[in-house]
Amino acid sequence: MKLLVLDDKILGQNVLKNYKEEDIIPYNYDKFKDGEMIVELKKPVRGDDVIVLATISDPVNENFVKVLICVDALKRASAKSITLICPYLGYSRQDRRAKAWQPITARLVADVLECAGVDRVITCDLHAKQIEGFYSIPIDNIPLMVILGHRWKKILPKEFNPNDFVVVSPDHGGVTRARDFMNHAEIPNLVVINKYREKANVVSSMQVIGDVKDKYCIIIDDLVDTGGTLIKASAELKKLGAKMIFIYTTHGVLSGDAIKNISSCDDIETLYITNTIDKTNQLINDKIKYIDISDIIVGIIDTFKNNGYLSEFILSLIQD
Ligand code: R5P
Repeated sequence: MKLLVLDDKILGQNVLKNYKEEDIIPYNYDKFKDGEMIVELKKPVRGDDVIVLATISDPVNENFVKVLICVDALKRASAKSITLICPYLGYSRQDRRAKAWQPITARLVADVLECAGVDRVITCDLHAKQIEGFYSIPIDNIPLMVILGHRWKKILPKEFNPNDFVVVSPDHGGVTRARDFMNHAEIPNLVVINKYREKANVVSSMQVIGDVKDKYCIIIDDLVDTGGTLIKASAELKKLGAKMIFIYTTHGVLSGDAIKNISSCDDIETLYITNTIDKTNQLINDKIKYIDISDIIVGIIDTFKNNGYLSEFILSLIQD
């Protein structure tokens, strides 16, 4: 097994620390004046099972093309198999035609990855589970919210009672994800918000379904982009008497002024995001906290290395 790490942020660096030089594929990356990328592998990979670690996030198009070019280089260098570990799979929000004349880009991404030569995909907390069906190669969706729910239960100080908490889904599409967290955290209460959008990234109205008075609320979402959903949801929950609002979100897309707006939002106590996307260089205060998932990614890589079963590895993370 050999490893090609395209993610040069904290996640990639923490993963790399666990492997010897002989396991890692070095590569050169450059650009022509017009922006075209050029990649060159610095080691042979003939006959190797290769794992590529890359996250398809901002700049999404550039990172996506970089993955494709690297996969092509590996294929042409006769790698035996190519497994893409992509903790954040960009374009997953476009998993259906919300209106006539729109594309289904998540499906297109699946086709292009397969066509480039990817044999297997591993990603985390897909925006919608049915995206798995767009792939005809194996795809595994690592349920980070299940793992985080389990870890939350373990770190809850004794003086707190799970009954004082409610888990909140900020829209109907996130109910299963919120329920996963709730079940593994052993929190008995779930509240759902009925969210309407007029257009992408703009929330027009929200209606809270359930009781949050005097409760600690934990909002669960797969991603935070502009922050509009979480800021508006927190305001609505506060209006209804919520005591404090914590947020667990898998992917911190955090576009535009999201960091500034969330950091100055008094309704939000803390936003926890995993480092599937890493914007730590832009954080200006500690209202936003990163949860490092490199131990999980290393566990996945080692499972492959040892010919183990991914499902058994995931189970081992939520059983103790
Ligand atoms: C929606 O379906 C997603 O789960 C997120 O709630 C949404 O994409 C977040 O976007 P924003 O932060 O721009 O409101």
